[in-house]
Formats: sequence, structure tokens, C-alpha cells
Amino acid sequence: MPDEPTLLADHTTLRLGGPARRFVRATTDEELVAAVTAADDAGEPLLVLGGGSNLVVADAGFEGTVVQVATRGISADVEDGEVTCGGAVVTVAAGEPWDAFVAHAVERGWAGVEALSGIPGSTGATPVQNVGAYGQEVSQTIAQVRTWDRVERRWRTFAGADCGFAYRWSAFKAEPDRYVVVSVTFQLRAASLAGPVAYAELARALGVEQGQRAPIADVRAAVLALRGGKGMVLDPSDHDTWSAGSFFTNPVLDAAQVPDGAPAYPQPDGTVKTSAAWLIDHAGFGKGFAVEGDAGRATLSTKHTLALTNRGSASTEDLLRLARTIRDGVREAYGVELVNEPVLVGCSL
Ligand code: EPU
Repeated sequence: MPDEPTLLADHTTLRLGGPARRFVRATTDEELVAAVTAADDAGEPLLVLGGGSNLVVADAGFEGTVVQVATRGISADVEDGEVTCGGAVVTVAAGEPWDAFVAHAVERGWAGVEALSGIPGSTGATPVQNVGAYGQEVSQTIAQVRTWDRVERRWRTFAGADCGFAYRWSAFKAEPDRYVVVSVTFQLRAASLAGPVAYAELARALGVEQGQRAPIADVRAAVLALRGGKGMVLDPSDHDTWSAGSFFTNPVLDAAQVPDGAPAYPQPDGTVKTSAAWLIDHAGFGKGFAVEGDAGRATLSTKHTLALTNRGSASTEDLLRLARTIRDGVREAYGVELVNEPVLVGCSL
């Protein structure tokens, strides 16, 4: 009897997605590149799977090879317990769960990623969309990204400055079928205090003024609590967390396009970033919203309007219908086109 096909629903935080034609788990960089190269040689479609926290996979599944990046390891240029002034240069395997690395750094007094606590997914995925939260982005601490270049068929290491980082953007996202991230090297500061707290909501939670500093362990605890309150920390028993995090990126607009009353964060280039969650809410899609006739299978999170969630029995098609309804409603109300943040595999909005 052939093996049961692997269901991608078992490997995504939305718990959606049909079967993979072939599923390979790679636990070393060599296995990873061998699996990728074998698929490329055969002209097979390839899906590189990390933590599955930013993926929407079609109900029909994936007609090709899925390679799960299951490499692990965190290695630093300083010994455990060694006190250094220069901080630490830390290389993390792509498959290492992101939050395990953040916890590891905070425990050792390495600052720079503490505001990114509680983000689901793997470390290798973080440079691709330049993951950010609470005033930090991985681009601020990434020294190097080591990749396998599927076009040139060779290892390529990018310095942080050459990664093309911008808001939820990178050179790796610009060419989605080209680079497989195998490890990420961070330059972290040795410091018990985090950098100035940039995010008003986080400053309030810590009881400090915006721009003041706080112990990194306190920042981690406060961020985990804030994210938890918004359903943005994975919890199998809470359907609000069966999501892909923020489903849409925050629109960056000309100042004149920002609706009255919407949050406005001026950018260095004169544009203004506004809040997708606010636009969704004010276009009439409140927390918990469901499309009529869907029987509540896919809804907005009851804790945050930017997370689209699977209440347990949704299909990918249910989720996409909800996403389209919201995108179209926001366009009608405000003339703003929301863009999905998760990667859509075998489906589209
Ligand atoms: N808001 C609403 N209704 C809601 C929730 C929020 O109107 O249900 C409005 C409020 O005005 C609020 C504003 O939206 O002040 C912004 O909300 P929040 O501070 O929660 O942040 P966000 O812009 O929705 C971004 C990131 C998150 C990150 C948080 C915290 C994007 C697309 N999302 O969310 O990242 O955790 O900031 O820094 O940039 C992710 O990318 O998957 C993600 C979760």
C-alpha cells in the first residue's frame, strides 16, 4: 500500500491545505539542498516549508515536492556565560523555531530581537519578509543570510545591507523561486536593557515613556502578553490563533489618501503607513466577522481584525472568500487596495 499523502493542513498554522505529492523532511543543509536540487532537476514544482505560519495552501494541495526545513542549531562566537562587551554574532539554522532563538538570546543578555518574541514560524523565514513587530525588524540585527541560489546552483551569502530589506520586503521575497535560506547570522548587542522602546503600546505596557529603555526580559514578557491578547501567539485550543498572523500588510500611501481618523505613521520618504486593521474595522468588518452563508467556518479573529482564522472546519476556499470580501469592502469604502502578506500556494485572491 502506498503511504498516506502528507496533508499540508498538518503543517500550517491555519491548518488548511490539501496533500503534497511528495514530502521530504531535511534535517541538514546538505539534505535540504539535495532535495531542492532533485526537484529542480526533475522540473518539479517546489515548496520550501518552514513553520507554515505564513502560508495559505489550496484545498487541492501541492502538485510537486514539499521540502520541510527541519535543520536546527544556534551557534554563537562567544561561550555560554562569557561576558563580552562587543555582543554576540549568532548563526541560527533556518529550521530553528524563531521564538526558541529569541528566548535563547534574551536568556543570555543579547539584545536586538526581544520585541519579536512570540512570532510563530522558523528563523529562515524571517529575512524573507523582514519580520517585524513592536518597533523591531529582523533587518536591524541581521548580519548575513546564507542561501542556496536555485538559479546559479551555488551557495550565496548576503550581507545584511545587500538583502534589499524594506517593510515586509526583501530581495528573497522579490524572487520567490530563487533563494532557499539555510541559515541566518545575527549581530546582537550585549545589554541588559533593550534599545529605546519605539512602539507606544509596548511603552504603555512596560510603564515607560516612548523612547525610554527597559530590561530585555521585561520587553519579552510584555510583548508575549500583548501578542497573546491579540491572538497572535499560537495556542491549539484557541481558534483565534489558527491564522497566518496579519493577513494584509499595512498600506503605505500618499498622505492625502489616508482616511480621516486612521492611524498615520509618516515614513522617511514622505509617504504614510496606515493600519490595515483600522481600515477593515471601519469598513464594517468588526472582530469575529464572517461572510454570510459561511456558517462561521472562517472568520476574522475575535481579538484582532487583521487575522483571518479557521474556526476548525474551514476550507482554504472559505478563507479566501472571507479575504476577498474584506479586500473588496475596504476598496469600496476607502479606495485602498489591501495586499496579502502570507504566501498563497496554488490559489489566489
Ligand atoms: N486596530 C483596529 N481594530 C483591531 C485591531 C487594531 O482598528 O481589531 C487598529 C488600531 O487603531 C491599532 C492599529 O489598528 O492602533 C494597529 O494595530 P496593532 O498595533 O495591533 O498593529 P498592526 O499594524 O495591526 C503590525 C504587524 C504585526 C505586529 C504588530 C505589532 C503588519 C501587517 N502587522 O500589526 O505583525 O505584530 O504590528 O507591532 O505589519 C504579522 O506581520 O503577521 C504581524 C502579526
